[in-house]
Amino acid sequence: MAIKRKIAVFASGNGSNFEAIAKGCADGTINADLAVCVTDRPGAYVVERAARYGIPVVEFRPADFASKAEFETMLLGELRKHGVELICLAGYMRIIGDVLLDAYCGRIINIHPSLLPAFPGADAIGQAMRYGVKIYGVTVHYVDSTLDGGSIISQAAVEYDGNDREILESMIHEKEHALYPATVAGLVDSLS
Ligand code: GAR
Repeated sequence: MAIKRKIAVFASGNGSNFEAIAKGCADGTINADLAVCVTDRPGAYVVERAARYGIPVVEFRPADFASKAEFETMLLGELRKHGVELICLAGYMRIIGDVLLDAYCGRIINIHPSLLPAFPGADAIGQAMRYGVKIYGVTVHYVDSTLDGGSIISQAAVEYDGNDREILESMIHEKEHALYPATVAGLVDSLS
């Protein structure tokens, strides 16, 4: 059995994708330890989910720091302390800055609820609905300094020809909860 890799998940809110990855690590479908959860919103629901899995959480308020470089330097210290080799963004609603991008070059990934490069940025599902899209989807991609840019690792389509946002959101989330852990599993196995 290959050695277990250490990964981190960053989330700002609900954390359902965090939980999908935590589950995959716990049941062995992802050959990694989810070593730490990072959130920029203290008290977000993801913190409760992490507690259920016994995963340590780093909670911080960006406003308590003078700059992004300053809070990312603090985060880098935490990530190194936990031996993190891959960072998975899961609803982390912030652009990653140079401190983390330089330290984790090619080792930061994100999930986005659209078929990128269509509909980057906030409220991708709403953007797509307003456009009249019939085939929605989700994308896992490498993170660079651009908004939801970076090369694509995996995608899955969601066909929906209606206008009930709740139904569509739950279809998209279901797809994310399958695609993200499977993609992370493949990536940890290929880490050098
Ligand atoms: C997910 O749908 C994810 O794709 C999206 O935030 C949601 C987080 O849900 N991310 C983005 O829009 C990034 N641009 P979760 O907190 O339940 O995992």
